[in-house]
Amino acid sequence: MSHKILITGGAGFIGNHVVRHFVRRYPQYEIYNLDALTYAGNLENLADVENAPNYHFIHMDLRDMARVVELFETHRFDGVIHLAAESHVDRSIEDPLAFVHTNVLGTVHLLYAARKVWGDDYEGKRFYQVSTDEVYGSLGETGYFTEETPYAPRSPYSASKASADHFVRAYHHTYGMPVIISNCSNNYGPYQFPEKLIPLVINNILHRREIPVYGDGSNVRDWLWVLDHVDAIDRIYHHGVLGETYNIGGNAEMKNVELVQLLCDLMDQRLGRPAGESRSLIRFVKDRPGHDKRYAIDISKIKRELGWQPRTPIDEGLRRTIDWYLDNAEWLQRVTSGEYREYYERHYAHR
Ligand code: NAD
Ligand code: DAU
Repeated sequence: MSHKILITGGAGFIGNHVVRHFVRRYPQYEIYNLDALTYAGNLENLADVENAPNYHFIHMDLRDMARVVELFETHRFDGVIHLAAESHVDRSIEDPLAFVHTNVLGTVHLLYAARKVWGDDYEGKRFYQVSTDEVYGSLGETGYFTEETPYAPRSPYSASKASADHFVRAYHHTYGMPVIISNCSNNYGPYQFPEKLIPLVINNILHRREIPVYGDGSNVRDWLWVLDHVDAIDRIYHHGVLGETYNIGGNAEMKNVELVQLLCDLMDQRLGRPAGESRSLIRFVKDRPGHDKRYAIDISKIKRELGWQPRTPIDEGLRRTIDWYLDNAEWLQRVTSGEYREYYERHYAHR
């Protein structure tokens, strides 16, 4: 009997890397990629695996509970790796309801469908919720998020992810559902939609557009190379203890302004532009409302229990990321036309 995994959000940034990894590394598994193909979903990201015999795409919206239940009844998946979400904090500030519908209700629909089909026979089953460090809120100058840190979300995005995580845990405690949750810091790498800081900065430098840094640029994020996250997801899916939470981080804290300056310098070198040219594009703009000050992750649990730690140093990861975006200018051009352009003009017009 084959092992069937439903991966949601596989046409998005992290999801496409997860799908590719599981399709290639586990030819004995059947991989089903469910995605609604919102503005953030792009099937071109998976062109290199779309003909693999163990890969299947399902165009479906998690908000449609009847279809989600029907899908589960048809395929009787053994595992779920749930990544589909509205993922951009600024969009959540513009339209919180969209985040409730997809991130909260979408997750509950999946849990409901899994329980309906699995019944109480959870042998060999697992439901893996991919979540974010933002559920823990914001840190001051010191300290780290551990798995015991109480949830204190502060944006509509993080509140919706926290709520989804609570439902996942509730299904474990109430119905015995075999769940695992991981909470990860900021990812970066190929195929990230250029609304997020790093690809947005790369794209703007490329076109000599102003680089918007929110507030004074002193907010700190912890950056993780996306393929290191995929490695953690693989280990957690296969070896994580049911009912447990694992924090994942890059051990690479940086102030936003320092990260942006580093990107400017790396891009100037790569494009053969005079040193300092791109830094002159930096503009400090109106801050994000409720902007979390600092995220930092204590990764000792996943390191100790699953032998995982980040392997890609930030400067190497950023170089690879820049190379990928410059080598894939057509991809960037296609995703920055249309809806993204409208969002960009609306969001940055008055900052
Ligand atoms: P993304 O926005 O790039 O991709 C999300 C995908 O979900 C897209 O393909 C989109 O089409 C799909 N989707 C959205 N709404 C859907 C719906 N209603 N039904 C079905 N599919 C839908 O997101 P990402 O950055 O790849 O993040 C993936 C997951 O990882 C999210 O759950 C996010 O909260 C979490 N996460 C992201 C980061 C990060 O830095 N990007 C860090 C930690 C955790
Ligand atoms: O921590 C994990 C989270 O990281 C994920 O759960 C989210 O899905 C992901 O979007 C990311 O959230 P952030 O809000 O940290 O990422 P973003 O790239 O939007 O912003 C990174 C930092 O840069 C943040 O402090 C805000 C700032 N920023 C962002 C943009 C888009 C700017 O200064 N200027 C910008 O134009």
